[in-house]
Amino acid sequence: MRIVKSPGAMQRLAKRWQREGIRVGLVPTMGCLHAGHLSLVHRARRLTGKDGKVVVSIYVNPAQFGPREDFTSYPRDFMRDARLCRESGVDVVFAPTNAQMYPANSRGPFSTFVVEEDLSRRMEGASRPMHFRGVTTVVAKLFNLVRPTLAVFGSKDYQQASVIKRMVRDLNFPLRIVVAPTVREPDGLAMSSRNKYLRGPLRRQAVTLRHSIQRIRAAVRKSPTPIRAARLKSELRKFIERASAVRLDYVEFFDPERLTPASKVAPGTHMALAAFVGKTRLIDNASL
Ligand code: PAJ
Repeated sequence: MRIVKSPGAMQRLAKRWQREGIRVGLVPTMGCLHAGHLSLVHRARRLTGKDGKVVVSIYVNPAQFGPREDFTSYPRDFMRDARLCRESGVDVVFAPTNAQMYPANSRGPFSTFVVEEDLSRRMEGASRPMHFRGVTTVVAKLFNLVRPTLAVFGSKDYQQASVIKRMVRDLNFPLRIVVAPTVREPDGLAMSSRNKYLRGPLRRQAVTLRHSIQRIRAAVRKSPTPIRAARLKSELRKFIERASAVRLDYVEFFDPERLTPASKVAPGTHMALAAFVGKTRLIDNASL
């Protein structure tokens, strides 16, 4: 396994692969890898084949964090990540620095961003202004540096995957986006690098996000007619607030393709929520 740190070296390697007709699968991450990330790596390997190359990027992207968010405290453990990648058969770990990704020098500041203006407005975009601008910009850069045949994203970040698919369509990036299912802890909590922040009672209460989705799903599946979203939202808020350390940020019911809010909820409607567990912000989603 190779560890590539400079964008220039990554791009040269990618060009060579492209000339040789080698299939390349990219898994973009911010590191602190867990089984969810590794499931994307295995998917990329299956899809690129034994002659293909799998690249995992590990980069905590400052542009997608708000000023009051956890950029500085975001968990980082490069040695462990590199070992997990090696054990998972990754060919290249791409781990650039901030100065390389966002150059600012005598020739001027970094001043070009990619902005998706429809799907990224609601939910995560409403709660975290500029978040998706940072995501689309860094992912567009990664696509230009790695030139992948395909890139694998997790449906854990459902809206993110939708925004990336839209960007790829709109800007004609020549690759396929694959979305893989959410990997969960045994109790149902969606795996996340931020779960590291949770200890004792906070960790126990974190599963409330998953339980609230399961409750809503059961109600929607049992009901012979669609249920008003407003009613489900107020029931969910009450359920969530029973867990003393959990505070709901938003819950939304929406069309799985267009992400437009649904006023009536039926099987097939998608649901996403964000909640603070103590100071840690967690998200989850599912098709109902
Ligand atoms: P990060 O949170 O590290 O996630 C990297 C990828 O792993 C994303 O596609 C995410 O959806 C996926 N993932 C996270 N938890 C998962 C789980 N429990 N099961 C399956 N997949 C999971 O998302 C980002 O980083 C960044 O925004 C990034 C795309 C790298 C751009 O900086």
